[in-house]
Amino acid sequence: MLLAFETSCDETSAALIHAGRVLGNVVSSQVKLHAEYGGVVPELAAREHLRNLMPVCRKALSQAGVKAERLDAVAATQGPGLPSALMVGLKAGQAVAFALRRPFIGIHHHEAHLYSPWITGSPPAADFSGFCPHVALIASGGHTLLVHVKGETRHHLLGSTLDDAAGECFDKVGKLMGLPYPAGPEMDRLAQSGNPAAYRFPRPMLDEPNDDFSFSGLKTSVRYFLRDHPVLLKDARAVRDLCASVQRAIVEVLVAKAVRAARRLGLACVTASGGVTCNHELRTQLAAACQQEHLALRFAEKGLCTDNAAMIGILAERKLAANPGGTSLDADILPSWELQ
Ligand code: KG4
Ligand code: ZN
Repeated sequence: MLLAFETSCDETSAALIHAGRVLGNVVSSQVKLHAEYGGVVPELAAREHLRNLMPVCRKALSQAGVKAERLDAVAATQGPGLPSALMVGLKAGQAVAFALRRPFIGIHHHEAHLYSPWITGSPPAADFSGFCPHVALIASGGHTLLVHVKGETRHHLLGSTLDDAAGECFDKVGKLMGLPYPAGPEMDRLAQSGNPAAYRFPRPMLDEPNDDFSFSGLKTSVRYFLRDHPVLLKDARAVRDLCASVQRAIVEVLVAKAVRAARRLGLACVTASGGVTCNHELRTQLAAACQQEHLALRFAEKGLCTDNAAMIGILAERKLAANPGGTSLDADILPSWELQ
């Protein structure tokens, strides 16, 4: 029975995992707190994690019907992420492991995202039956990555964003348009009744022969466009068209680069996770592109796209099976930990 914590950004989460099954998974989002400031404020995030982690943990234990004494191991996100936020979950996990004299393991947040598309069903459980080497797209507010997953816990980073992440681009463009933080879901909603061909914005790095992304130029181009056409923001229809047009630009780049990488590497499958993969247009376009290229496609289920401790725990259980010693109880956070 494994207890996992996730506190790398603005979600406080605890999960109970047993033999690949998610017995409890509680996520407390801080999004309302940070909305007032238009983005995540690291010190406020850490303070909220401190306040919420133990109540969230108790709720997960009771959801799973498990007493703390029954725990066999503890895991927590060790990096990458906001230093003060990571510190809360990592040190709490190490303290629980120390008190119960159980092994502890620190987990790489992005590596855990790689495995969330393989958690399915109700109650959720890890199902690696269809697993084959694939390209994984991870797109959220803090990261945009393409990873070649060669086997379970064997992977190679193909590329990542050179500046803003895809979700950050949604959020910053939405802010320019006066939408509340985080603007991604609202842009998605407005775009559904907008015309994606109404305005033409750049598709950054689409034609460059690498697997990297860059979204800050797109954001700047929208800023200049809005500066030159401020009246558009007073027109509800134009706002919907703007949302659809910006969304199309972001999605086109994500889809084209993920599918191109899979084709180049001769892989038969693509997976996608991270908050941005909740986006309807991304789901539709990626599904269409994969179908056209005869690639299998696996999305993380919507509740597991965003940050959660279930994915941390599922990976931790597999890692502990291979390395029962785990991570030292003195190990420190790794805020800039690179995916190997
Ligand atoms: O994975 P996540 O919960 O947190 C991290 O950033 O790690 O992702 C949050 C990001 C935010 O930028 C949010 O605007 C974006 O995911 N997002 C979306 C949608 N839902 C969440 N972006 C576009 N369309 C959506 N439906
Ligand atoms: Zn994440």
